[in-house]
Amino acid sequence: MSRDSAEFMPHPDTWTRRDLLDLESLTLDELTTLLDTAFAFKQATDGCRRKLPLLEGKTTSNLFFENSTRTRTSFGLAAKRLGADTVDFTASSSSLSKGETFIDTAKNIEAMNVDVMVMRHHTPGAPHLLADHVDCAVVNAGDGTHEHPTQGLLDIMTIRETRGEVRGLTVALVGDIAHSRTARSNIWGLRKLGAHVIVCGPSTLVSRGWEEFGVEVAYSLDSILPRCDVLNLLRIQFERQYTRPFPSVREYALLYAMNADRMARAKKDILIMAPGPINRGVEITPDVADGPHSVILNQVTNGLAVRMAALWLVAGARDKLRQSICRGPAAHG
Ligand code: NCD
Repeated sequence: MSRDSAEFMPHPDTWTRRDLLDLESLTLDELTTLLDTAFAFKQATDGCRRKLPLLEGKTTSNLFFENSTRTRTSFGLAAKRLGADTVDFTASSSSLSKGETFIDTAKNIEAMNVDVMVMRHHTPGAPHLLADHVDCAVVNAGDGTHEHPTQGLLDIMTIRETRGEVRGLTVALVGDIAHSRTARSNIWGLRKLGAHVIVCGPSTLVSRGWEEFGVEVAYSLDSILPRCDVLNLLRIQFERQYTRPFPSVREYALLYAMNADRMARAKKDILIMAPGPINRGVEITPDVADGPHSVILNQVTNGLAVRMAALWLVAGARDKLRQSICRGPAAHG
């Protein structure tokens, strides 16, 4: 592939959505476009040339109402790699503490000619509400326990990159499924691409109801382990829990932590993934997290490419929408 940005145009016309809010509503074509574009961006910026100024003159804004390390840095860096200006907004140091609603805050930021807003919020559906009130594109960077579409995409991209195909693989999401937006986005994306998905954890965190989404429910990691091609180890999200879901962290680790003993009983080419932050010794032991099967840092690298793809595609769709509104209905005929 050419590294000249003038010639670099993967799938610009197959994407028409102004917003990326979830993986549930994406078609298989849209999902594939996002993944292919992310791969193309990764290849194009892999060498010594890091920048691809396709969004020069555009502005993106990170509106984070919840803590974040990887996602926020990655969206900021993705915008910069594409040549966009980017502004950061942190809820705790904003006028929200003076009583302003988040829609008013967002509209004020949009009034500064922002093209794409990236939002993380503790309330499920908050980015969808925002998208109804602004003209700029909106990207969901995690809404409560609902979805985290770019995390799902980067997880899938890492699986596809390492294994070539997602179809036919058995992927287990292990841990706090009840509170995980990463789990939901993975389930939607992986199922559309033909993977067999297992959700596994203590019954207080994994309900039988998940079967309705076409996934297998399991309570014993040891019993499913020999069948798994990929394990995605999810953090126990104590900050979202109102009661303790198990007697002790030690007991959880005994039953569900991926450790050397379990690695010895897993497939030889098993992939070990985690969205991060990881809690060493709880869902994964350090030797496994840092071991040869772990692709945890590859996930972070791919996150940058996925976010470049997401920003570029929604910004392009928003431009097309605005142009057609400016031209009026006659232009459509
Ligand atoms: C995830 C999140 O915030 O939902 N992390 C992330 O975005 N890298 C998962 C988590 O916090 O455990």
